[in-house]
Amino acid sequence: APVEIQIDPKRVISEVDPRIYSGFTEHMGRCIYGGLYDPGSPLADPQTGFRKDVLEVIRSLRVPIVRYPGGNFVSSYRWQDGVGPRELRPRRPELAWLGEESNHFGTDEFMLWCKEAGAEPYICLNMGTGTLEDALGWVEYCNGTSNTYWANQRRKNGHPEPYKVKYWSLGNEGALPHLPSPWQVGQMTASDYAKTAFQWAKALKLLDPTIELVSCGEGGYTAWDGEVLNKLAPMIKYHSLHQYTTSTGDHMVNVTGPAGAEKGIEITKSLIDLARIQNSVEEEITICFDEWNVWDPQRAIGSEGAEEHYDLSDALAVACWLNVFIRKADVVKIACIAQSVNVISPLMTSPTGLYKQTTFHPLYLFANHMRGLSLSLSLHGSPTYNGRTRPAWIQHVCPPAMLDASAVLSEDGKEVRLALVNRDPEEGQEVVCRFAGVQVREEARVYEVWSSEGLGVRNDFGQEKVGVTQRTERVREGRLTVKKHSFTLVCFTLA
Ligand code: AHR
Repeated sequence: APVEIQIDPKRVISEVDPRIYSGFTEHMGRCIYGGLYDPGSPLADPQTGFRKDVLEVIRSLRVPIVRYPGGNFVSSYRWQDGVGPRELRPRRPELAWLGEESNHFGTDEFMLWCKEAGAEPYICLNMGTGTLEDALGWVEYCNGTSNTYWANQRRKNGHPEPYKVKYWSLGNEGALPHLPSPWQVGQMTASDYAKTAFQWAKALKLLDPTIELVSCGEGGYTAWDGEVLNKLAPMIKYHSLHQYTTSTGDHMVNVTGPAGAEKGIEITKSLIDLARIQNSVEEEITICFDEWNVWDPQRAIGSEGAEEHYDLSDALAVACWLNVFIRKADVVKIACIAQSVNVISPLMTSPTGLYKQTTFHPLYLFANHMRGLSLSLSLHGSPTYNGRTRPAWIQHVCPPAMLDASAVLSEDGKEVRLALVNRDPEEGQEVVCRFAGVQVREEARVYEVWSSEGLGVRNDFGQEKVGVTQRTERVREGRLTVKKHSFTLVCFTLA
């Protein structure tokens, strides 16, 4: 039986914030060194050392913000080591990934890279080994306009103008109580974290009242999130969430994982409301989902710093993630795919070139087409999936439908765009779209990510087997069929 999707372009959830298509670059594996920064490479700009091919792909994704420098890395990072003449920068042991940090790429290089990428910088502060004084120095170095030490150091290093970094997060993943590895350097309990972060926030805002602070969250549904929000609500503009979904070799586990993130977002929305009520906070607080992706640590073992090799199933999981952010556009205002280059990334480099992983393609389609107003839609007749999920509670608390959908009214108001993931590995699905109060033309533009080679197909250097196909299709009476295990983006023109 067909699945019926009802769309009313007047039922707007919220504007899609373009910042949901943001990125994340960490000093981890080959994300920075050998990824976006590769001095001496024939593919790099001889002046900056930035890989030109990488920048071109990042620009094609229209990435508005990039988070830096970690992640776990930041919790033992001295930002002061990464500024000033390169030959004087110390080489340090690195405690998150147990490597060595040359400090050849630091704050000034990142600022320039962001400028070239057309993105705004977002800095995560070191609340592990770092002190409040270090954090104040970093903000002053980036944003200071007075005749003070760190602002003058920036000028001395060749950067007279302040960088005006708006986004700062108060540490990274303080503690993850549901996971056995307390890997974060400087791990804290929620109450210790909240107490410290409150004092940091106060001082940082005294130094620069224009900055927007992000509290360090967890999955969105834990005691950590509740406690941190409750204490920090008067100080923050965003609460961060981190979640990675994983396939464990099972396609349905892979593509249903983002339903857990959606539940985390819903719960966080309520926790934010509660914290605002209890603290009489008038200003809006929203979610910055600053680490999300598909990541199967078992599968990535052996690679240098979690280099995933994604397949078609992962691409569909990424599309499901992005559907979540569109549906939750009222509260998710920033989301950063982790990460942007080589490390669990849609983009892979080698010394001689790059390739786009399967997961690149849904991200590209969303970033370029799913903008405008997020529309509420109702979906009837899609069977619910009740099998194994990860986390296991998804199948009991929020079992997802086989067909996953989100919709937008385009920025120019001329098109309704419908993003459809058919999670079903075996069967195609007939869909009937019904539009309330508007007529659409029969001819629709359709983009599809799919492969006849099945769910395990991957891309590689010189072998981009999974890409996007585009066609014009006559959609009579709103009826179309989406293929098994596919992602389809349908653009209807309003008549
Ligand atoms: O993105 C990789 C790592 O995952 C980050 O460093 C950390 O914050 C998270 O656990």
